[in-house]
Parts: sequence; structure tokens; C-alpha cells
Amino acid sequence: MIDLQSKIAVITGSARGIGRAIAERMAALGAKVVISDLDQTECDRVATEIGRGAIGIACNVIDEQQVANLLDSTRERLGSVDIVVNNAGITRDTLIVRMDEKDWNLVLDINLKGAFLVTKAAARIMMKQRSGKIVNISSVVGLTGNVGQANYSASKAGLIGLTMTAAKELASRGVTVNAVAPGFIATEMTDAIPDAAKQAFMDKVAVKRAGTPDDIAAAVVFLASEQASYITGQVLAVDGGLTIS
Ligand code: NAI
Repeated sequence: MIDLQSKIAVITGSARGIGRAIAERMAALGAKVVISDLDQTECDRVATEIGRGAIGIACNVIDEQQVANLLDSTRERLGSVDIVVNNAGITRDTLIVRMDEKDWNLVLDINLKGAFLVTKAAARIMMKQRSGKIVNISSVVGLTGNVGQANYSASKAGLIGLTMTAAKELASRGVTVNAVAPGFIATEMTDAIPDAAKQAFMDKVAVKRAGTPDDIAAAVVFLASEQASYITGQVLAVDGGLTIS
């Protein structure tokens, strides 16, 4: 049985979608969760809805000061930082020939630099306490590439490099670092994809259904638990067979 009793978990981008599902599942297994997203009112609302001691701390992951505040306040208010999930992410899709430098930078900043800043701040705390679990939300397109997603797939491939490096640097201090690579998951992010492109994805999914945020949460919770303490530096595709098609 997975038990997260007395664990403190910080999940970035957790006001909705996959991040929220991860927070809900962790809270149901006994963790005290920190709902972190761009807007403090939203963070507080979701924390109240989840209950079980959840708190909200707003943080824009591209701002190093806000990231430091997120991790330091969590430790001050809840006592430690045992689990960190780098989930915050955005898309700005278009073909390379039309892609603005601004949209390249924004996606790389939020999806990749943000995870670096959070990992750095969390690592300082986890190395001292000699334990911790970090789970990064990458994407199958970080493994395969995808038309219209040069910025996004580069950021998610970069996140895999960050995962493996952090796993190597932190292993001797009792900290594991892994990534989950979701396939096509029904959230507000994928709502925006045109129907024809959605169908093209679905045609390639072996199990013939879109994933749910809870499908991803189940894998993340496992990697964040003691059950996975001998797993580090790995990428787990949770994609209904999309990458084997
Ligand atoms: P979503 O768009 O529903 O939720 C993302 C959350 O991140 C939002 O609440 C947003 O406010 C927050 N966020 C955005 N920029 C932020 C920033 N700078 N600082 C802090 N929070 C910020 O997206 P969804 O679908 O729940 O995605 C969650 C993660 O899963 C993302 O990293 C995404 O790239 C990844 N993913 C999603 C897939 C899907 O099919 N939905 C597939 C593969 C990966």
C-alpha cells in the first residue's frame, strides 16, 4: 500500500488539471499538500476544497525569489519538504518557421528553467534532511518531438536531462529524481488542440482512450512514495501505448 502519511508535498501548477489531480491523490494518501500556482486566491480556494491540512502558496516558477519563498515557507509552516512535483507548464504551439523568439523563451523559461529553480531550492532542503523525492512532469513529445511544438518538446526533453543529472547529483543524499512523460491527457491544456489534431493523437493511442489527470497522478504518487525508493533517474511514459505505436 502506498502511504504518504506525514509527508509534505509541494506541487507546482496545481490549481487545476494534472497538478490538482496529483495534489488530491497525495492528500487522500495522507500527505499535507501545498497548492502552488500563479494566483494566491486560486491556490487558497483549491487548498480549501482539498482540505486535510492543504495550504496555498502562490509562486511563478520563473521567479527565483518566489521559488525560494515557496520552499522556505513550506518548511517553516509545515516542517519539511519531502516531495516536490515540477508540474507547471504551458504550450505556445506553432511551426518553427513561424515561432517567435518570445514564445520560445517563455516556454523554455516556465517548463525548464522553472523546474531547475524549484529543484535547486528543494535540493538544498532535501540534501540537509537526507531524504526527498522529486518528480518532473515531462511529456512523450520530449521523447519523440511533435510538429508545431519545437519549444515545448525541447523544454520537455531538457527536463529529462535535468532529471537524470539531478538524480546523479542527489542520490548519495537520499534524494530520488524521476520523470513522468504523459501522453494525451484530457485537460484545459489539450482542450485548445484542434479536433483533427486530437483525432490524429487518439488514432495512435493503443488503448483507444485519452488519459485522465488521475492516470498521471497514480504514477506520480508511486514515484513519490517509499515503494519507489530504488528508482531514480527514470522516465515513465504514461501514455496508453502512444509511444509504442
Ligand atoms: P493546465 O494548463 O491545465 O495546468 C497547468 C497549470 O500550470 C495551470 O494551473 C497554470 O496556471 C500553471 N502555470 C502556468 N504557468 C505557470 C508558472 N509560470 N508558474 C506556476 N504555475 C504556472 O495543464 P495540464 O494539462 O494539467 O498540464 C500539467 C503538466 O503536464 C504540464 O507541465 C504539461 O506540460 C504536462 N503535460 C500535459 C499533457 C496533457 O496532455 N495535458 C501531456 C504531457 C505533459
